Amino acid sequence: MKIFDQSYVEAHLPVAACLHIMEQTLKEERQGDCVQYLRTAIDLPNTNVLGLMPAYYERGYFGAKVISVYHTNGGTGYPSHQGEILLFGKEHGEVLAVIDAMSVTKIRTGAVSAVATRALANPDARVLAILGCGAQGHSHLNAMAVSMHLEEVRCWDAYPPCAQALAAAAGEKGLRGVACASAQEAVRDADIICTLTPSKEPILQGTWVKKGAHVNAVGACAPTARELDSDLMACSRIFCDNTESILHESGDFLIPQQEGRYGAEHLRGTVGDVLLGRIPGRKTREEITVFDAVGMAVEDIACGIYLYEQAEEKE
Ligand SMILES: NC(=O)c1ccc[n+]([C@@H]2O[C@H](COP(=O)([O-])OP(=O)(O)OC[C@H]3O[C@@H](n4cnc5c(N)ncnc54)[C@H](O)[C@@H]3O)[C@@H](O)[C@H]2O)c1
Repeated sequence: MKIFDQSYVEAHLPVAACLHIMEQTLKEERQGDCVQYLRTAIDLPNTNVLGLMPAYYERGYFGAKVISVYHTNGGTGYPSHQGEILLFGKEHGEVLAVIDAMSVTKIRTGAVSAVATRALANPDARVLAILGCGAQGHSHLNAMAVSMHLEEVRCWDAYPPCAQALAAAAGEKGLRGVACASAQEAVRDADIICTLTPSKEPILQGTWVKKGAHVNAVGACAPTARELDSDLMACSRIFCDNTESILHESGDFLIPQQEGRYGAEHLRGTVGDVLLGRIPGRKTREEITVFDAVGMAVEDIACGIYLYEQAEEKE
């Protein structure tokens, strides 16, 4: 059994490779090449969560991610997401690898948003706004810098040093990095906006978002939590990673629906189907598109398969 710890994953799962794997995975999930169910989440004290995300891949593997999400870890030195991915072989059912889930979750989530952005944003998008500058803020910067032709990255976080650190990281990539004092300032005239906070209340308002922008709504993963307000959701074309998950788990989508702002048909479909050419993505330069993502087990297992097969090849 192989053990891939955090430093191994960070060294062997480069952003460019992960972008390719996630694009394939989003398509394969829609083609029926893999099976996954809604995640199981057990609520722990202080709004923390234990999550279990299993998936099966036709091409020879299955497995599960077990992860704790501790938003109360801020400032303690412990990360908010910790756990492992177990990868099994389909032929004999043996455990092939145990893989650090924190680093895979971090890298794959930014890569998925970058694939969605490439599919849905206007191709001349240059200004990226990142709301929430923790692990996902850095992952999204890394992935967007590879997939889009960015010039400027605006960073905002409830904890200003995080925004300053991310702006500095953008500068190190040769981009103009700006730490902003408010979310509204960060998103003004932004072409791409990523919401990456554990906030339960909207941090992004529709009136702040320019026409033609693309939004990746990633931080809120529970039916009672959201980062986008109802006006933004109601006026945008909404796409997602997985329809069933969004209709069960996304407060961003479900809360305005419960308010009567729209019906389930307002969800246009998955980015996987856009990539496969089965449904249209963006239709005009002016419309606002939203990619609503709660994360999929197949993304984690696909990264695990890549790491395992790369290691096997080297032996
Ligand atoms: N959809 C997915 O696939 C997916 C995957 C991983 C993480 N997530 C979610 O994304 C969010 C961010 O994850 P992370 O790993 O970057 O966490 P993190 O703890 O590393 O970073 C969170 C950042 O948000 C800031 N923050 C907290 N509350 C805020 C608020 N109300 N307004 C503005 N900033 C605030 C914190 O200061 C911190 O810098 C979490 O809610 C997590 O559950 C989603």
